[in-house]
Amino acid sequence: MTFGNVCNADEGSPIGVFDSGVGGLTVVKEIMHQMPNEKIVYFGDTARVPYGSKSKDTVTRFSQQIVRFLETFDVKTIVVACNTASAYALEELEKESSIPIIGVVKPGAKAASDVTRNGKIGVIATEATISSGIYNEYITKLNKDVTIYGKACPLFVPLVEEGLLEDPVTDEIARRYLTELIDLDIDTLILGCTHYPLIRSTLGKIMGKEVSLVNPAYETALELKELLQDRNMLNDRHPALGENQYQFFVSDKAEKFKTFANSIIKYGILSAKTVNIEQY
Ligand code: DGL
Repeated sequence: MTFGNVCNADEGSPIGVFDSGVGGLTVVKEIMHQMPNEKIVYFGDTARVPYGSKSKDTVTRFSQQIVRFLETFDVKTIVVACNTASAYALEELEKESSIPIIGVVKPGAKAASDVTRNGKIGVIATEATISSGIYNEYITKLNKDVTIYGKACPLFVPLVEEGLLEDPVTDEIARRYLTELIDLDIDTLILGCTHYPLIRSTLGKIMGKEVSLVNPAYETALELKELLQDRNMLNDRHPALGENQYQFFVSDKAEKFKTFANSIIKYGILSAKTVNIEQY
């Protein structure tokens, strides 16, 4: 199966970004910050979240549908903002599409391999991302002399979605998850799930100042900018377009998404539309 063609896109075309739900907005936030002239079309699969407990086949099928949906906007590139979809589906999506597609895992892996001093890197993520071994694979390709310790932290996503960003409950659960990584003497921790940058201060407090926290959302925006620059596709001429600059779509209730989105992104998300993603 081949997806649509990039030839209709130019530097003024939007960037497509997708995630299993709201978490990918941490990536959108970084793109808005680093590339303020870009248009963004975001899709959050709120009807089918979480991806982190689903199979590779299911996550790949969902991701293929979303890519087909984003292609209808003649996007110039697609960012897979979800770590789980990057782990499970990116390779397949890249094979099928002529649009450049980037995920969040490779940029996060590269940053961690650059930052570590003692060669001990921790990765926290969903069950799916950890069991895929994808961070391990990318990091050891860059640097054979590192050891990677993965830890699935499934309770962090619901805690963040409940707004418990700085709360004793989140603190206690984070301590339980992170103790074994502290005991292993890691000096670098990858926040390998879209939601985790939102509890960065709790994680940083528990890990201590000596441990560098790597945020793949930030690293991905940097890589995206480089990719667009290399292809002469960076929008540095078109002025920002007010409320039409950013479009948000979800597969379930738009109101709930809007409330959460406005707590993450300070740009004021005025509207989000619901689409039937199964038809793509
Ligand atoms: N977006 C997912 C990720 O980054 C977390 C939420 C989910 O499990 O779908 O892996």
